[in-house]
Amino acid sequence: MANTSTMEHSFTAVVNERHAVKHYDPNHRISRADLMEILEMAGKAPSSWNLQHWKFLVIEDPGKKQALLPIANNQKQVVDASVVVAVLGDLEAHRHAEPLYSGAVKAGAISEELKNTLVGQIQGVYKSSPQVGRDEAIRNASLAAMQLMLAAKAKGYDTCPMGGYNPAKLVEEFHIPSRYLPIMLVTIGKALKPAYSSPRFKVEEITVWNGF
Ligand SMILES: Cc1cc2nc3c(=O)[nH]c(=O)nc-3n(C[C@H](O)[C@H](O)[C@H](O)COP(=O)(O)O)c2cc1C
Repeated sequence: MANTSTMEHSFTAVVNERHAVKHYDPNHRISRADLMEILEMAGKAPSSWNLQHWKFLVIEDPGKKQALLPIANNQKQVVDASVVVAVLGDLEAHRHAEPLYSGAVKAGAISEELKNTLVGQIQGVYKSSPQVGRDEAIRNASLAAMQLMLAAKAKGYDTCPMGGYNPAKLVEEFHIPSRYLPIMLVTIGKALKPAYSSPRFKVEEITVWNGF
């Protein structure tokens, strides 16, 4: 495996080389600077109305990773990886609308009228059904999770997205407020063993043109 810690990969290489890695060097420590850069890049993901429906709960303390192990069905990558990021979706992201768009008015990017229209639209949609907040949290935080994995790969790290954990126990152990919904865990670290090979359907099989 190439040492990619300082190498900037091309986007194509990043996409082709990202795999769900399950075996990590348990002695590797990720620098805070690298981790912050990766999280910052993840936060540049697009989101509905730019509400940025995500929160990253970083689990790096060895004792906390041990506590996560049974919650994650004893999948050992959660203790061996340098950190685990619990990607959380914000069920109340509409609360970001007012400060976000007021900032845009102050910066001269949009008018006060447009701000009021947008904020009213967002509040209306969120009030229309409790399902909206949940759907939006899952949709948008998942985009951030994907971007997190690609950013980590671009910085020379490996990742594994994980849905195999008990969300209720995660909430309890890490005191996650009810505003946030666990979306997935993402391990980040240095691979000891490459990922299992994972086939993909042919592009023709996953594509439909102009309707079914
Ligand atoms: C939402 C989601 C949940 C997943 N959960 C787990 C998991 O709990 N444990 C695990 O080892 N891999 C998990 N994976 C990894 C997948 O098995 C893997 O992404 C898939 O087989 C494709 O392989 P690749 O990522 O190496 O291309 C998960 C992936 C996704 C997207």
